[in-house]
Amino acid sequence: MSNKNNANQMWGGRFDAAPSNIMEQINASIGFDKRMWRQDIRGSIAHTTMLSKQGIITKDEAIEIINGLNAIAEEIKSGAFEFKPALEDIHMNIEARLQEMIGDVAGKLHTARSRNDQVATDLRMWTRDAIDEIIHLIEDLQCVLSDLEEKHKNDIMPGFTHLQAAQPITLAMHLGAYNQMLCRDKSRFIDARKRLNQCPLGSAALAGTPYPIDRVFTAQKLGFDAPMANTLDGVSARDFVNEFLFCTAQTGLHLSRLAEEIIIWATPQFNFIQLSDAWSTGSSIMPQKKNPDAAELVRGKTGRLNGNLVQMMTVLKGLPLAYNKDLQEDKEPVFDSFDAISLCIQAMKGMLEGAKFNTKAMLNSAEMGYTTATALADWLVMNLGLPFRDAHHVTGAIVKMAENKGCKLDELDLSDLQAIHESITNDIFNVLSVKK
Ligand code: ARG
Repeated sequence: MSNKNNANQMWGGRFDAAPSNIMEQINASIGFDKRMWRQDIRGSIAHTTMLSKQGIITKDEAIEIINGLNAIAEEIKSGAFEFKPALEDIHMNIEARLQEMIGDVAGKLHTARSRNDQVATDLRMWTRDAIDEIIHLIEDLQCVLSDLEEKHKNDIMPGFTHLQAAQPITLAMHLGAYNQMLCRDKSRFIDARKRLNQCPLGSAALAGTPYPIDRVFTAQKLGFDAPMANTLDGVSARDFVNEFLFCTAQTGLHLSRLAEEIIIWATPQFNFIQLSDAWSTGSSIMPQKKNPDAAELVRGKTGRLNGNLVQMMTVLKGLPLAYNKDLQEDKEPVFDSFDAISLCIQAMKGMLEGAKFNTKAMLNSAEMGYTTATALADWLVMNLGLPFRDAHHVTGAIVKMAENKGCKLDELDLSDLQAIHESITNDIFNVLSVKK
């Protein structure tokens, strides 16, 4: 390939001069898109195989190209590959290296293809792999939650509304709520994966290509359900990115709620949970402290997960068809949200595995919080036929009496209760203790 001046060796045919230094910096994505090297090589191998099957390149040329691509994969794995910002992105870095290795036949790889359909294909594959990994991590966390639910199915704690003790529940019920949230998070990822699993390859720059390509073949080879129906949409659609970012943000949001509870429960005031040393940090000045930093970081990461979603939605707003370089901004949020959510899920799993639930303190708190008051009111309705509003009133008076005496509801005497409502019988004690 001739290159008389400093212009870009991949597309610099009509250029006389190299880009300015800042242009090179703002233009280069290799710093982050090198994370897609596996997908890029896989996509190129599928494309080459198709080109030769269709007689667009010869079999020998295809073998040379594929051997070269496999050798590059080995170089990248071993760390020997040199990523060059002057070559902009992962696609041109790999193609330029192929040219160095096998000479001009490398130039045939890009027949009937553009970086526009190439990058869209790579990112769909990367996101698909990321989803598979996240689903796996969610399932691991769900296993830990399910084990805890089994272990604590008879352990009583106060259920809260307004963060005030409301009604007695079991710890299993409380943890089970998070397990349900994770079920839905997982199903959202599965759903997003289905929708993204169509192949842009063959869209070329935007209008398709005159070569007799076989899009169904490449789509199948790369694990897609079908080629994308419209080529402009193929190169410019990024709603799959938004969906992925939303799924990670929503999962992170759920984890942040659990994290918040862990933080509150770990305070000496609550004392519901004790985190293991592996998941806490100390204070450099206050020796008594054991801080739930991991939970705080899970809670804090919600900020960046939401931010990444908003960033990408903003990039896409009003963007005309088809490919625009703005779209290069699509990868960092995807990578960042994947990294953040993977860490959050694993940290949550580790924290829960190592935590000790102080079931005595939970029971005590449920008993001290008059959490059976609603059950008492229901008893008055069901046994004495009181309207609920009246029962609510009578119960209020009983709670006040217990408060004045400084005792639990089930420690009141029958005569005390009858002083408030004469028809109350001994049977009421069946609902006054939290265990009942
Ligand atoms: N690095 C580019 C991106 O991430 C690849 C596509 C470049 N296409 C182009 N027409 N300049 O979007």
